[in-house]
Amino acid sequence: MIDIHCHLLPGLDDGPATPADALALAQALVADGITHVVATPHVFPGRFDNRRSGVQAARAGFAALLAARGVPLQLRCAGEVRLTPEVLDLLSLNELPWLGDRPGLRTMLLEMPDDQVPLGALAFVHALQREGITPVLAHPERNRGVMAQPERLRPFLETGCRVQVTAGSLVGQFGAKAQAAAEALLEQGWVHAVASDAHNLRGRVPRMADARRWLMEQAGEDFARELTVAGPARLCGWPAADQEATAALVGGLAHA
Ligand SMILES: [Fe+2]
Repeated sequence: MIDIHCHLLPGLDDGPATPADALALAQALVADGITHVVATPHVFPGRFDNRRSGVQAARAGFAALLAARGVPLQLRCAGEVRLTPEVLDLLSLNELPWLGDRPGLRTMLLEMPDDQVPLGALAFVHALQREGITPVLAHPERNRGVMAQPERLRPFLETGCRVQVTAGSLVGQFGAKAQAAAEALLEQGWVHAVASDAHNLRGRVPRMADARRWLMEQAGEDFARELTVAGPARLCGWPAADQEATAALVGGLAHA
C-alpha cells in the first residue's frame, strides 16, 4: 500500500523524537503492508516551523538509515500544511512542501483545525487553486464541523479538493462520530485516499491493514485497492509506486 500521510521523520514534529523511534515506526509500516510512504511532518508556523528545504534534508538522512538497515520502504516527503495565513508566505518563498508535483497536478496536504470548518476556509482554498495548487484535505472526518454535518464538505469537493481519510477512523480508532463521518464521506464518493497518519507505536500506530480489510468487506477488493494504492499514487504523483505496491499486495494476498 501507499501511505501519503505519516509523521515518520525524526525530530520534526510530534512524530518520532529520535532516529531509533522513527526506524521502529518504519518497520511497523512495513509490517502493516505499506511499501511506499510519503513522510508528512506538520507545517504549522509558530508550532512546527517546518519548510520544504528542511524536510527534504531530513528525508535524505532518514532514507540513508532505512537503506543501511535494510528496511524495504520507499520514502518520499511532503508536509501536512495547517490552514494559516502564513502558508501564503511559505508559498512566496517556494518553501511549501508539495504532496505531488507533476505536469497538470500540484497537490498539497491541507489540515484544518479539528474543532470547526473555519469561515474563510473555502476562500483560502480558492486562493491556493489560483496558484495552481489542488488541496488534499487531511482527515476531514475528524473535524467536529464535518462530523456534525458532512455536507459542509460539499463545496470543497465541488471546487476540486481531494480528500484523505485516516485509516484508523474507518475502524473506530477515533470514535463513533469520526467513523460515521468517514462512512458518510465514502457513501458520497468523496474519499480519494486512505492514509495512516501514524505518529508512534503507542496510540497512533498505522492501521492500514485493518482499514484495507474493512474496505474489502464493505465494498470489495477493487475499491479497497483504489483507496490504498491507486488513489494515493495519483495524489502524490508516484505512478511507479502504484505498480510496485500492487505487485506486493497481490503477492501478499497469494501468500495469505
Ligand atoms: Fe497528520
